[in-house]
Amino acid sequence: MLEKIIILDFGSQTTQLIGRRVRELNTYCEIVPFNKFPHDDAGIKGVILSGSPYSVYDAAAFKADLTAIRGKYPVLGICYGAQYMAYTSGGNVEPADSREYGRAHLCVVDDSCPLLKHIAAGSQVWMSHGDTVTSLPQSFRVIASTKSVEIAAYRVEGEHSYGVQFHPEVFHTADGTRLLGNFLDICGCKRDWTPASFIESTVAELRRQLKDDKVILALSGGVDSSVTAMLLNAATGKNLTCIFVNHGLLRKNEFEDVMKDYEHLGLNVKGVDASAKFYDALKGVTDPERKRKIIGKGFIDVFNEEALKLKDTQWLGQGTIYPDVIESLSITGAVIKSHHNVGGLPEGMRLRLVEPLRMLFKDEVRRVGKELGMTPGLINRHPFPGPGLGIRVLGDVTPEKVRVLQEADHIYMSLMREWGLYDSVWQAGAILLPVRSVGVMGDDRTYENAVALRAVTSADAMTADWAQLPFDFLAKVSNEIINKVKGVNRVVYDISSKPPSTIEWE
Ligand code: XMP
Repeated sequence: MLEKIIILDFGSQTTQLIGRRVRELNTYCEIVPFNKFPHDDAGIKGVILSGSPYSVYDAAAFKADLTAIRGKYPVLGICYGAQYMAYTSGGNVEPADSREYGRAHLCVVDDSCPLLKHIAAGSQVWMSHGDTVTSLPQSFRVIASTKSVEIAAYRVEGEHSYGVQFHPEVFHTADGTRLLGNFLDICGCKRDWTPASFIESTVAELRRQLKDDKVILALSGGVDSSVTAMLLNAATGKNLTCIFVNHGLLRKNEFEDVMKDYEHLGLNVKGVDASAKFYDALKGVTDPERKRKIIGKGFIDVFNEEALKLKDTQWLGQGTIYPDVIESLSITGAVIKSHHNVGGLPEGMRLRLVEPLRMLFKDEVRRVGKELGMTPGLINRHPFPGPGLGIRVLGDVTPEKVRVLQEADHIYMSLMREWGLYDSVWQAGAILLPVRSVGVMGDDRTYENAVALRAVTSADAMTADWAQLPFDFLAKVSNEIINKVKGVNRVVYDISSKPPSTIEWE
């Protein structure tokens, strides 16, 4: 039985972080909206209540019925979660005299309490709250204080319920991971959830689910779809057909290289070269959003054509990962948006979705990929947009412009690997500008295109900064491109951050 911790999400910005910390402690957990405690309680070992943007007094505050949870499972309330548990048991919660944000230190600690085992007085904690618990219900006991917050942590007598006013999940709480680990010990978790155990249980589950059914999956060359394919392949083998569409807007040699990688991994992949179709549909189109739509629709059409050729397919595999799933669960649980990496399904094809990574974070997907024997080249690949070079050739797209950009991009990316810079940036690529400028080569005047180089650092692509690549590296790339790529006589480096710019130019 898979052991798990349930995290009830009251809307805090750090809920996902709590999930990651628990997973890092080799324990599986699921984040669910505050009012959607699972009906099926198999394997549940404990419950964490997250923080919230609300105060317990707000009319709109999220309220959960804890009567069936407290006493049955160990419970840890964090910030709002702690205030909510105290308040709903008759305690007092009041706005703090001064809102407390940032560092504080525990000055009194009852380390005989199992939650605070091996946590010493003086330990730094991170506070971020407007309210505090000012008086506790009868059976609640203070177990830690800071200089300005008397009830920084409490326990409840007669049950394994605890509350902490600070945030153990954030980096700045020095003993936060230890505290969460102590809570997992209180829950009796074995802490044996690893990439290997994930693979074993997922493959067994997929075998039960898919039996002898046939599955189709679109591969993109990226890590999510590749790891999905590997898991489905381990479970169903010959019953899995992967489709890898070449829209003619991939990087130089990428179609061939990725096909080879997939074949080495033992996947049954059908490569479909539909470049001509895409170039045709893109002819003369300059508007970025229209280009995106054309490429997206073209992709669905080609995939559907291939899917229809496969008789008796019952399942569509998708590389959906946990952040997409969490994003699509509104906190009220009302709207569940489906994430389609592929888009609409063919008319008359009733495929059921199978998404083996839907409970994993990106770094966990990478670790599973490594465990499955995928090469670092495939696992650590930079993100690459679905519309590919179609949105990096600015303005209208022609096969010739794509070829020029592929050459420039290839030089840039190869040198980046050679200089050991590839893994230090989030993503990088070259952009072909619709600008010509004057140059001089030998005795001749030239009037040719400019290429922009982009490289950014980022944690999640929501914000990004331009990467401070070494000048001598940039000089080398510029020289190589101008000397070797016919049609380019100028190279510039993009020094814009996101926001206000974006990572891609279109
Ligand atoms: P922006 O340009 O919005 O990009 O800062 C954020 C991240 O998303 C990628 N991106 C896309 N990916 N289809 C995709 O699959 C798209 O249309 C698309 N546009 C941008 C971009 O490369 C970056 O990683």
